[in-house]
Amino acid sequence: GMKAKTTFHCQACGHQALRWLGRCPDCGGWNTLKEERLPAAPKGRQGMPKTAMAVATPISDIEIVGEPRHSTGMGEFDRVLGGGVVPGSVMLIGGDPGIGKTTLLLQALPLLAAPGEQVLYVSGEESPRQIKMRGQRLGIDGKHLLILGETSLEQILKAIQEIQPAAVVVDSIQTVYTEQLTSAPGSISQVQEVAGQLMWFAKRSNVPVFIIGHVTKEGAIAGPRLLEHIVDTVLYFEGDKSHSFRILRAVKNRFGSTNEIGVFEMKDGGLEEVSNPSELFLAERPQRSTGSVVVSSLEGTRPILVELQALVSGTNYPMPKRMANGVEPNRLSLLLAVMEKRLGMHLSGQDVYVNVVGGIHIDEPAIDLGIVAAVTSSLRESPIDFTTLVMGEVGLGGEVRAISQAELRIREAAKMGFKRCLLPERNVAKLEPVEGIELIGIHEVGDALDAVL
Ligand code: TYD
Repeated sequence: GMKAKTTFHCQACGHQALRWLGRCPDCGGWNTLKEERLPAAPKGRQGMPKTAMAVATPISDIEIVGEPRHSTGMGEFDRVLGGGVVPGSVMLIGGDPGIGKTTLLLQALPLLAAPGEQVLYVSGEESPRQIKMRGQRLGIDGKHLLILGETSLEQILKAIQEIQPAAVVVDSIQTVYTEQLTSAPGSISQVQEVAGQLMWFAKRSNVPVFIIGHVTKEGAIAGPRLLEHIVDTVLYFEGDKSHSFRILRAVKNRFGSTNEIGVFEMKDGGLEEVSNPSELFLAERPQRSTGSVVVSSLEGTRPILVELQALVSGTNYPMPKRMANGVEPNRLSLLLAVMEKRLGMHLSGQDVYVNVVGGIHIDEPAIDLGIVAAVTSSLRESPIDFTTLVMGEVGLGGEVRAISQAELRIREAAKMGFKRCLLPERNVAKLEPVEGIELIGIHEVGDALDAVL
């Protein structure tokens, strides 16, 4: 007879080993390897069409046909997807439990049904009655939205066969299992196999499938991370539970750019789009606070203004604390070193905390100068002018280097009522004046501090 093959899968990173190990050689996690049984022989997927041989085509003869796309009815969602939902694509929506993934898809899914079509929401997390109650809260009702409480993939695919929906949501990948495997729902092999089969279904039927995946607090999960290479598009829904706004971000997109973000606000009646994120992120900014500065973060095609805060205070630790929230810790260390060395500031006896307000994460060098300005503002207890935007990359020599898309960022600042903008001299040289905003070219970090403090 055939022997079922046993392998050991790291539940944290997906590494496969032939024998059990106490520590995963890939991610270093302890006791993360679990035995999982694979089917005896990999059965061909039933009904899988024999693939036709691909024909090599001269590049000049290849036609570029724009993918037809369907709107989710939410501009912010469409943008992150690259302009809407591509038929037959599989989109993974990852995020912390409770962040609003179910809400987002319950709102978007019904809009993907053309008149006469139906869409299917498969819930393994909540009962159809619970979904109905949420739907009521969101003002969603109707015969075209079908709810299925089911966790067996085989049953789900059968239901899909009968219903022929225009789009499907599977909530969540951790609760669905295939009967072909004996391992528990949510295990690595289950999650990968279920996603693989949904992918195959989507490609064959041209029906778009959204898969919800929870990110557990360990961060590494039998979920989103492992599926990134299987699915077409990976979106993360992020936010701080203590705040109402949420950011949808593409980390992989076969059909669009990965830089775009969508911004939403969670309200009593569900998610609302935020079409002017700068306004939202600056709403609670204190008027005359030390250590606060506004910087510009380019999110895809959109410049967003955000408040960056720094707090510097005498340390009680043998090693002063450095904490960076929303900016790269290494970048902060580097900038502090530049400030010590080039500006002669004494920071070794100071704890330094930097935070980007709103839970946004910025990893572009254009915020360097803002970080330096905010830290100095807190150190000297001198506030930065409320209507000034600060941007520029800082080099190790203390020089301020040019940034990308300066004009776009300045226009956003002018629109938001900013009066002055500190930016690299190199950028200023190439810019036409922008109405209502004074541009101050900066050559060295020291000049920037003289200008704002
Ligand atoms: P949910 O969509 O269930 O999150 P996930 O699918 O990511 O686990 O989000 C649930 C949270 O959102 C819950 O804390 C309640 C809140 N919420 C609102 O504030 N307004 C609403 O209209 C809805 C439906 C939920």
